[in-house]
Amino acid sequence: MALAAQNAVVAAEALGLGSCYVGAIRNRPEEVAAELGLPPHAIAAFGLAVGRPDPTEDAGVKPRLPQQAVLHHEQYDAGLADAHLATYDERLATYNARHGLAGAWTDRVLTRLAGPESMAGRHRLREALERLGLPVR
Ligand SMILES: Cc1cc2nc3c(=O)[nH]c(=O)nc-3n(C[C@H](O)[C@H](O)[C@H](O)COP(=O)(O)O)c2cc1C
Repeated sequence: MALAAQNAVVAAEALGLGSCYVGAIRNRPEEVAAELGLPPHAIAAFGLAVGRPDPTEDAGVKPRLPQQAVLHHEQYDAGLADAHLATYDERLATYNARHGLAGAWTDRVLTRLAGPESMAGRHRLREALERLGLPVR
């Protein structure tokens, strides 16, 4: 699924189009399946909004976690990953502030994963998959 999504994004970019993944399509899977008329045992795994980028929109380039935090050799090194978070948070907070968003990266991730109430329905994804006839182990 991720490979298909990424290829679609790359193809759109090659055509001069912009795109935005819509993971929120999994927030209410049964309703989306009904809306799309999906057969049993099928679910919309991701959405992709495709359009022409607004040339007046200055989104900039969003800072990324440094490569040392995400590229690991042979074994995952949690300490190395964590070591870069404070610096990245500072950089992202600056970027966010410039674009009218509050908070840094860890704040936003922790808020998003605080509990069922902050997961926009995603906490019942397993139940939804079972209802749509997808075996869940
Ligand atoms: C797997 C995935 C799902 C996403 N789902 C949504 C979404 O449901 N709604 C939305 O507005 N943006 C969505 N996005 C876009 C992100 O909010 C963000 O704008 C984009 O990924 C660029 O930020 P990043 O550099 O942190 O990935 C999604 C991005 C990814 C990678």
